[in-house]
Amino acid sequence: MRHLLSITDLTVEELDGLLKTAANIEAHPEQYETALAGKKLATLFFEPSTRTRLSFEAAMYELGGHVIGFAGASASSAAKGESVKDTIRTVGCYADIIAMRHPLEGAPWAAVQSATVPVINAGDGGHHHPTQTLADLMTLKREKGRLDHLKLGLCGDLKFGRTVHSLIGALSRYPGNEFILISPRELRLPSGIADQMRDQGIPFREAESLEEEIGGLDALYMTRVQQERFFSVEEYLRLKDTYILDEEKMRLAPRDMIVLHPLPRVNEIAVQVDQDVRACYFKQVMYGKIMRKALILKLLSEKDAAPAPGPVLVTTGRQCRNPRCISSTEQGLTPLFRPVHTQMVQGVATRIPTKYLCAYCDMEQV
Ligand code: CP
Repeated sequence: MRHLLSITDLTVEELDGLLKTAANIEAHPEQYETALAGKKLATLFFEPSTRTRLSFEAAMYELGGHVIGFAGASASSAAKGESVKDTIRTVGCYADIIAMRHPLEGAPWAAVQSATVPVINAGDGGHHHPTQTLADLMTLKREKGRLDHLKLGLCGDLKFGRTVHSLIGALSRYPGNEFILISPRELRLPSGIADQMRDQGIPFREAESLEEEIGGLDALYMTRVQQERFFSVEEYLRLKDTYILDEEKMRLAPRDMIVLHPLPRVNEIAVQVDQDVRACYFKQVMYGKIMRKALILKLLSEKDAAPAPGPVLVTTGRQCRNPRCISSTEQGLTPLFRPVHTQMVQGVATRIPTKYLCAYCDMEQV
């Protein structure tokens, strides 16, 4: 059975294959109208959503299938204390495939421990959002004509912005892409992701001024400061309007630069920018539905595939140090860690791990 927990669960060839399927769905939607007749998608949204949930549901209806689910943890037995693992095992009795959003990082990794049907991560805390990346890739492909050799500005909340983490996971595997990470110091990309980019030789640079960087970009990916992830209201209020893309800043941008945003936007793109032909964020919304159609078709067609071998996981006798990780909050989950052997001695990785990453949320343990 295939799941989609992280965008790296899909190879570059598979990403290209999904883009090809999506192009065919867009050109010939009538060919897919009954493709999933009799199948059911469950949308389990423990956290608010407009685009992701509704686009999954529209996608399933347009493929001839049915939808069940809930929008909000308070409408499910999670409100009575039911675990994610038990919820997923239960829903597997009713549905053929599950799309789940959860506020805790690593929740989909807990979900697959009891899953009997494919699980799609529709966003887990500030960690990953792989299906938004599918929408982003289709937008870049359509509007820039390529997914390689792009200079991409990622701007705003890079710490909690899960869409940014997933987008880097996809685009860093295409050749020639360069990332300009524009954020205040407090909202920089998590060090684990930056370290991984450094280890893999992915070109990137951290910056603080949008005005100074916008003139050299092929695409600008704006993000909202994620209020719901902050422990301090004062800190959120201080940082929330750090970047506002307006007509004046757009005058500094190349004529062929495109503006993306996963949405919802709060204040970080002035509404006047919507009239600019370079604003592509509402196209992204439409592409998201088409890519989700392609994804549901793929996962259901590979439902009986042998699982890919996963990484070696170990216990350390300790809990994950991330307070937002599901393994440190939900009972009955064994904390698991991925040993990383990065230190090279005479060109060979050391046998003793140099660090451990949480198998649920990826946070490095100290
Ligand atoms: N982009 C995105 O995930 O939007 P929603 O939160 O509305 O689903």
